[in-house]
This record gives sequence, C-alpha cells and structure tokens, in this order.
Amino acid sequence: VGVLRREDPVEPIGFHFDDQAVDAQPGDTISTALIDARLLMTSRSPKYRRPRGPYCLSGDCGTCLVRVDGQPNVRACMTAVLPDIHVEPQNTFRPKGLDPTQLVDRMFSGGFDHHRFMVKPKIANTIMQTVARELAGFGELPVRALDQPVRHEHHEVAAFVLGQGSAGRAAARVLADAGIDVFAIDRHDAESLRAIDELPWPDTALTSTGVFAAYAGERLWAMQSTGPDGIVLRTVRAQSVLLAMGSRDPMLPFPNNDVPGVMSARGLVRALRRVRAKLEEPPVVVGHGPVAQDCAEELDAELVHPDKVESVTGSRRVEGLALRTGRKIRCQFVAVAGPASAASELAAQAGAALRFDGAGYVISRDESGRAGRFGDTQLWATGDVTGWKGPLAARRDGERVAQQIVRHQKVRRRDG
Ligand code: FES
Repeated sequence: VGVLRREDPVEPIGFHFDDQAVDAQPGDTISTALIDARLLMTSRSPKYRRPRGPYCLSGDCGTCLVRVDGQPNVRACMTAVLPDIHVEPQNTFRPKGLDPTQLVDRMFSGGFDHHRFMVKPKIANTIMQTVARELAGFGELPVRALDQPVRHEHHEVAAFVLGQGSAGRAAARVLADAGIDVFAIDRHDAESLRAIDELPWPDTALTSTGVFAAYAGERLWAMQSTGPDGIVLRTVRAQSVLLAMGSRDPMLPFPNNDVPGVMSARGLVRALRRVRAKLEEPPVVVGHGPVAQDCAEELDAELVHPDKVESVTGSRRVEGLALRTGRKIRCQFVAVAGPASAASELAAQAGAALRFDGAGYVISRDESGRAGRFGDTQLWATGDVTGWKGPLAARRDGERVAQQIVRHQKVRRRDG
C-alpha cells in the first residue's frame, strides 16, 4: 500500500526502479511515484556516502538525480513517469545489490558533523579527500546518443520573461494584453506550474524550458526546451528582460537533516497538489512564520519551531523527530519550511546588482523595477527573486513592473 491517498486514482502505469516493478499514476513525477512506493533513497552523497533522496521537489537541489533509460543526471522530481521506463539509482558504489559504502550508515547511525569530520590531522584529510574523489561522480556516460537531432530556434522579441511563477505569470499576461511581443518561459512542466499558482499563463509561454547561459556581449539568453518532440535549443534576444525566477527552499540546520524523507515543505505541498493526493500519515513541519503555518495547514501536519528540534531520527530514512523537551514524534516525513532564498544566480551572471537581505542574495532594483543592463538590454526584476513576497504580493508586483515595461517599450517604439 502506498503512502499517498489519491483523490481520483485511475488505472496505474508501471515502470522499473532498480529492477523493481513500481506502479505510478498518470501525472506522477518519478519522485512522487517513488515516494508513494516508499522508495526514498535514489543516490548517495559524493563525499560521505550518506543516503540521498528528494529534498526540494522543485528541480533546485539535485539530490534526486537518477539514471532514466540510460540517461544520467535526470531530476526525478522534474520528470514525469512514462510507462515502462527504467530508472536506476545514481552514485551508488555498485549500481545494484550490495554497496560496501553503506557501512557508513552503520558506523555513523547517529549522524556526524561533516564540517569537522576528518578535517584534521592533515594526513587523514588527504586520504579522505582522495577516497571521496574516487567515489564521487554524478553518473556514467549515456548508453547511447540522443535519438533525434537537436533543433535550434532563435527568437527576437520586445520582452522576455524568465519564470512563470506568480509574479512572472502575472507580468507576462499584462505584457501580452498590452500588445507587447512577449516570450515567457519556465523550467517546470505544465502540471507543476498549475500546482504553483492557479492563475493561467499566456498561451505563448513555454513550459519545461530552462536557461543555461546568458551572453552579455551578444545580448543572448540560451535555453533548452524538453518535450515529446525531443530537445530544442533556443536563443533569445530581447529589448527588455524581466527576471522572475522566484525563490528556493533552503535547509534548516539540525542534526540528521539530510536523511531521505526530509523534504521542503513548499516542495511537498506543490508535489501533492500536482498529483492530487495527501499523505496517508501527515508529516511534521519544522519552521515558523506564515509560510510554515500555511504548509502545516495544507499538509494537516503538526508544526514544530526549529529551536525545539533535537534531531531527525533514522539512518536510511526518517523514522521520527526528537525534540529538546525529550518528546519523540514518530513520522515518515519531515517537511522543512525555512526562510525562502532568492533564486538570483542567473541574475548575478547577467550582471544584475544583488544585495544580502538576511536570507540570501536578492536582486537590487529601483522603484520601477529596473535591475541594471545586459548589454543594451534593460533588465527588470519582480517577485520573490527581489526578496520574499508570497504568491499574492508577487502577482501584484509582477503586474506593477510589467506596466512599467509597457511604458518603457512604448517610449522606445516612439523614439524609434
Ligand atoms: S532537484 Fe529534485 S528534489 Fe531537488
């Protein structure tokens, strides 16, 4: 019996995980199907061989990497299950069967401080680094080349919106309604975007499309779209670029917080919305503030303040949460709701100014939303990437900055 209670289950589709038959529901990601099947561990950490499973469930952390039909480094949380695919764990010492490095689980069942462990004496550190380098690695080469040729498409547009979360989506709609030639993308697929915000996105927005480079000299943004027709490489040049990449869910510091079954609360909420399911047994939410409260409510979960946490218990998966009061809560999942940090790395690469807001580096912008230049392209920024706002305030911010872009583009057009 799975751990998910589905709202409207239909005929399952089958796939394979490490030679085990697993049932999934249409619309499942590999991660939601594996969570449902209680198969949480998909890899080991490169350095200390700690068990790894999904954390962010949003494509940000990379702890869910698996090999799918011979392709390495596939994010299980961003990949929909297809019938009969073969999914294998990655970065285990042997792909299947006994993994001698799992002795680490037994030797350090209570966890250890990996910032200090074997750092001194120097000789121990050198040996550890050498062994870790040997064992580390993220997958072996694909078994075959890509089936289809990769196409390239180039887009010259007035406005380019990166991100279709609450702010980017609201902004793209304002731009499209004002007759601005807008190109909008998001790296999530349509099902995940629907779980992030119910606001529809413009018909022209592309899903499953993520930027991997920004070239200021050429004013080019390079990205990859994945879909049923294979991979399309795209380049975009725009007069205005609106950065709306949102925020990420950082981990909170408490012992054993990396055991499979510890997940981002926002990521878990969205993943469950996506597959229209609830957990059979509620998780415990660790966090404080409005986001933590909203997540605990949606997950029917007990909310625990981070200061009260002694540690997560369990060595290969979560078995419970030990509190400083001596109380032990039995649970299979711990959902972490820490202060969101802005997804500002691409903005930094593009030359936008950043500032530290206490939780991370956010894009620094002026009153109207201007965030610097990228060659002779005007950069703008909106939503959580400029500092945490939450969905409703992010929408309003997106609309406000989009109206400024409409004005800017009209002036540009008028001035030739
Ligand atoms: S990238 Fe998949 S869980 Fe974080």
